[in-house]
Amino acid sequence: MVSNTNRLTANGSCVDGLAPAPTNFFMTIRDIAYWMRSARADARLEQFRQEGQAGSPFDHLYSETHDPFGVELPQYRYQQRKYACLLSMLPQRRYRNILDVGCGLGTFTRKLAPFGEQVLGTDISGEAISQARRLSVRHPNITYAQRNMFDASPTESEFDLIIIADTLYYMNSRTPVALKTLAGTIASKLTPGGLVLIVNHYFFGVDLASRDTREIHDAFRWAPSLDCIAEFRRAFFLVTLLQRAAA
Ligand SMILES: C[S@@+](CC[C@H](N)C(=O)[O-])C[C@H]1O[C@@H](n2cnc3c(N)ncnc32)[C@H](O)[C@@H]1O
Repeated sequence: MVSNTNRLTANGSCVDGLAPAPTNFFMTIRDIAYWMRSARADARLEQFRQEGQAGSPFDHLYSETHDPFGVELPQYRYQQRKYACLLSMLPQRRYRNILDVGCGLGTFTRKLAPFGEQVLGTDISGEAISQARRLSVRHPNITYAQRNMFDASPTESEFDLIIIADTLYYMNSRTPVALKTLAGTIASKLTPGGLVLIVNHYFFGVDLASRDTREIHDAFRWAPSLDCIAEFRRAFFLVTLLQRAAA
C-alpha cells in the first residue's frame, strides 16, 4: 500500500512530508472545551435542519457564531496538531493546483498555501467563504468559491492534490451509492498521479461516528480510479491518502 512517493517513518508520517510530524502529546485538558464546542456546533446544525430554515444550515451556523468549530483558536491544541499531522502525511512535492473541499474558514487552506502554486478552497456556506476570504488577504495564491461538493463544475481545472477534511461526515445521505458516486466525482478532478487526502473523526472504530468514518473511507479506497497508498490511524481521526492511477 505504501509507495515510494510516501515512505513512512516509524511514527507513521511521511519520510519526505511537507512538515515534520508533531511529537507533542495529542491533547490537553483544554481540548475538552474544543470537543464540547464542536458538539454544540453539530447540535445547532441539527436544530437548523429541523426548523427547516431556508438556506444552508452551515450559513446560519457561521453567521451566528464566528468559528463555530473552534478551528482558529490556538488554545485548542488538538486541532492545530491535527493540521500539522496532515501536512506531515503529504508527500513533499511542489503542487500546482490544490483543492480544499469544505474549507470552512480556510484554516488548513492557508497552511497548504506555501506548498502549492494555486490553492482553491470551496465550501457550501457562502458565509464561511466570505470569512475565509477576509482571513486570507495575505495569501495571493488562494482563491475561494462557494460550492457544494456534489455539484459538477465542468469549468474547474484539474488538481494534483485534493483535501477533504472533516466534511464527508456531514453528507446527508451516506449510502454506498452516494459515497461511490462522490468518490468518482472527486477522482475525476485529479490529474493522473494526483493525490486525495481524506480525514474524519475516528474513535478507534468503537462509536457510531467511527463506523460511518470507516464506511466513508472504504468507499474511497474501493473507487476503481483510486489507489490507496497510505492509511493513518490517530487519536482521534482516520486519514486515507489515495492516488489517481497514472494515465
Ligand atoms: C467541520 S468543518 C471543517 C472545515 C475544514 N475542512 C477544516 O478542517 O478546518 C465542515 C465544513 O464542511 C462544509 N460542508 C458541509 N457539507 C458540504 C458540502 N456538501 N459541500 C461543501 N462543503 C460542505 C461546511 O460548511 C463546513 O465548513
